[in-house]
Amino acid sequence: MTTSMNFGLTWSFPPIAQMESGVAEDVIRIGVIGYGYWGPNIVRNFHGQEHSRVVMVCDKSASSVRRVRQSYPDMLVTGDADEILKATDIDAVAIVTPVHTHFELAKRALENGKHVFIEKPFTSTSAQGEKLLELAERKNLKIMVDHTFLFTGAVKRMRQLIDDGVLGDLYYYDSTRVNLGLLQHDVNVIWDLAPHDLSIMDYLIPEKPQAVVATGERHLNGVADIGFLTVYYPKNIIGHVNVNWLSPVKVRTTLIGGEKKMLVWNDLEADEKLKLYDKGVDIACGQKIHELLVSYRSGDMWAPKVEQIEALKVEASYFADCILNDKNAFNDGQAGLRVVKVLEAANQSLEQKGKIVHL
Ligand SMILES: NC(=O)c1ccc[n+]([C@@H]2O[C@H](COP(=O)([O-])OP(=O)(O)OC[C@H]3O[C@@H](n4cnc5c(N)ncnc54)[C@H](O)[C@@H]3O)[C@@H](O)[C@H]2O)c1
Repeated sequence: MTTSMNFGLTWSFPPIAQMESGVAEDVIRIGVIGYGYWGPNIVRNFHGQEHSRVVMVCDKSASSVRRVRQSYPDMLVTGDADEILKATDIDAVAIVTPVHTHFELAKRALENGKHVFIEKPFTSTSAQGEKLLELAERKNLKIMVDHTFLFTGAVKRMRQLIDDGVLGDLYYYDSTRVNLGLLQHDVNVIWDLAPHDLSIMDYLIPEKPQAVVATGERHLNGVADIGFLTVYYPKNIIGHVNVNWLSPVKVRTTLIGGEKKMLVWNDLEADEKLKLYDKGVDIACGQKIHELLVSYRSGDMWAPKVEQIEALKVEASYFADCILNDKNAFNDGQAGLRVVKVLEAANQSLEQKGKIVHL
């Protein structure tokens, strides 16, 4: 059976056969750990899939357990993660808990033979990420890191425009991701919000980052609540990310500059999220040596069509496909580790007030 999804991606699934438990063989049985802010989105999207079903949810907070029971009266619910980690009828574990808990939960899930779907950022350190990759490889299990934005219509379309050469050589990626809250207590704002942009940059920019500069400041709870991150790439490509939990307004705007075209992505726009500008600067040599002729190009603007579909829904389907058909996900543990390495460098730079850190 073949299911065509949006973005031109095609997932294929092996034929359906019934197992003794009554769950079809091509349905991945998932246990979800963590039902705070993001967990409900994970449960809803994995549960509603043809090829995955949430069979148990765990949260150590009694109020979260109550919320699961209200939304899913028939769902098995527990406050003890071991019930999921050690269950013999669970194939994969989704880890939707704070970052400092990721490594231990993922390690135990892999040790117990379960595939792992894990929230961003993958781990608190790159050493932890490397250990999980090694364990998954040894056990022949999959790790997928929830880099949700990679499954949005806007990011898919931007990737297509770059691959098709519409933007030309890339100059920069410059993102503003600010809002009032949500403050985290175990990570600073760079670790909380920049993984979105770092995973998008990892996906869109063909080069690998070379160096990082980060500045920021803490005002409230001991971790930086405002951060400015600069990432240097080969070929003069530069990435910049402005993240802030103390902004009076929500802004989700990214500029991508290319040699041929420039692009604005405003994720808060309902319809025209992407705008492509035929703008740029052309430089030619004048008659005299050292004479440069600068001309500014200001052509049309158009709004490329962007698929409107819930990103997590597509990602959940892709997770099942990767497990059922033994595929390597593009947002696998390696992708998660690449993001964590930049975040680690960002922390080192932040501690030294913006000293450049080479990767
Ligand atoms: N992909 C995205 O767009 C996105 C968006 C928001 C959050 N996140 C990520 O999701 C993760 C969770 O974030 P959140 O905002 O939902 O946090 P949260 O604090 O709102 O919820 C976490 C939940 O996990 C539970 N928990 C913690 N440790 C546990 C354990 N050992 N066993 C059982 N339950 C446990 C807590 O009781 C809490 O209910 C973080 O890694 C965050 O970065 C991702």
